[in-house]
Amino acid sequence: MKNIVILISGRGSNMQAVVEAAIPDVRIRAVLSNNENAAGLAWAAERDIATAALNHKNYPDRAAFDAAMAAEIDRYEPDLVVLAGFMRILTPEFCRRYEGRLINIHPSLLPAFPGLHTHRRALDAGCRLAGCTIHFVTAELDCGPVIAQGAVPVFDSDTADTLAQRVLAVEHKLLPQAVADFAAGRLNISGNRVSSIRTADADAFLSN
Ligand code: GAR
Repeated sequence: MKNIVILISGRGSNMQAVVEAAIPDVRIRAVLSNNENAAGLAWAAERDIATAALNHKNYPDRAAFDAAMAAEIDRYEPDLVVLAGFMRILTPEFCRRYEGRLINIHPSLLPAFPGLHTHRRALDAGCRLAGCTIHFVTAELDCGPVIAQGAVPVFDSDTADTLAQRVLAVEHKLLPQAVADFAAGRLNISGNRVSSIRTADADAFLSN
């Protein structure tokens, strides 16, 4: 059984997708946030998942917040920490502590559009494809070995909101899949590349 801790900052729809996927041999130990009003916390608590919120404004600096968050995370002895819409930049120390067991979902086809406002920027750049990326987290923002990417078309009529919705539907499929692959030991990191060993079991899970 693999212990997973999920960090969110708001709605938590990606966290919900992971919980609802009921991934074999995965236990969602806790959902943590920097925002006590994050809607996803209440959703998780209703399902008897441990939750906690640490308000980053209560800490003198980024390092102090990250240390407190790490202490909270470590209570659950996670095999994997998932950043699912966690909107805080993490210190290099935090990234190093969870190296190889910290993944993030980002709403663009990295390395295009790291940072914020990804859908607006994809539209402004005239992209015909947009998408999302799941990657292992390294100290550099929105970098790190890519586990999976999903692409969607950009339509002439798109706004940042309609594009975000199309990408989000793909995020909800890709993130549970990546967690399942990690938990089953199917991901191998080599330099900046991740290879995944697919098995019949994995394909059966993904086709559901
Ligand atoms: C998702 O689109 C996720 O990719 C993005 O925030 C949204 C969270 O939605 N993450 C980032 O922008 C991280 N830089 P959710 O709370 O409904 O999962």
